Amino acid sequence: MSKPHSAIELFQGDITTLAVDAIVNAANTSLLGGGGVDGAIHRAAGPGLLAECRTLGGCATGDAKISGGHRLPAKHVVHTPGPVWGGGHRGEADLLASCYRRCFEVAAEAGCTSIAFPSISTGVYGYPIEQAAPIAIRTSLEMLAKYPQFQRVIFCLFSAPDFVVYQRFLQMAGE
Ligand code: APR
Repeated sequence: MSKPHSAIELFQGDITTLAVDAIVNAANTSLLGGGGVDGAIHRAAGPGLLAECRTLGGCATGDAKISGGHRLPAKHVVHTPGPVWGGGHRGEADLLASCYRRCFEVAAEAGCTSIAFPSISTGVYGYPIEQAAPIAIRTSLEMLAKYPQFQRVIFCLFSAPDFVVYQRFLQMAGE
């Protein structure tokens, strides 16, 4: 199996443990914390992250904003509110692709060369992972072509089943 791009890696585990330039937070538009990976990132980063997020003025779905990493091993957190799944006919696919695109753009502007993504929108927001994974991979491949400075793009999956889904779509992208 050939790899779709040498920079792309799969990791199963907790994104807050990754010592990369930027970890992506599957946030909500308030940027004031929540459950899921948002909750885990804020817990690990400490109260300084919320204090900084209060100064960011929220974030539109599909957009992304960057903050420091605070107590995290990552240097930065890129916060992006993904779309809530509403059946697939409300522009969810374009909004999800926009999340990945904007995260790369914002991280590139900050000089990042490594970035880790959770599976955006596939938890509380209900986006079917079989539909989200190919969007994540295709958009990331596009952005790697546009931003060759990225040396590591890690898809961080929290569960084994999610890891297997991404692994399957990555293999398909590499063929
Ligand atoms: N590390 C990596 N991935 C994680 C972690 C973690 N520590 N915790 C959860 N996940 C995974 C989930 O298993 C899921 O696959 O992140 C993915 C995204 O799920 P959610 O965190 O629920 O995010 P999302 O579906 O985008 O919903 C966002 O949830 O937490 C609130 O404030 C957040 O309102 C926003 C909504």
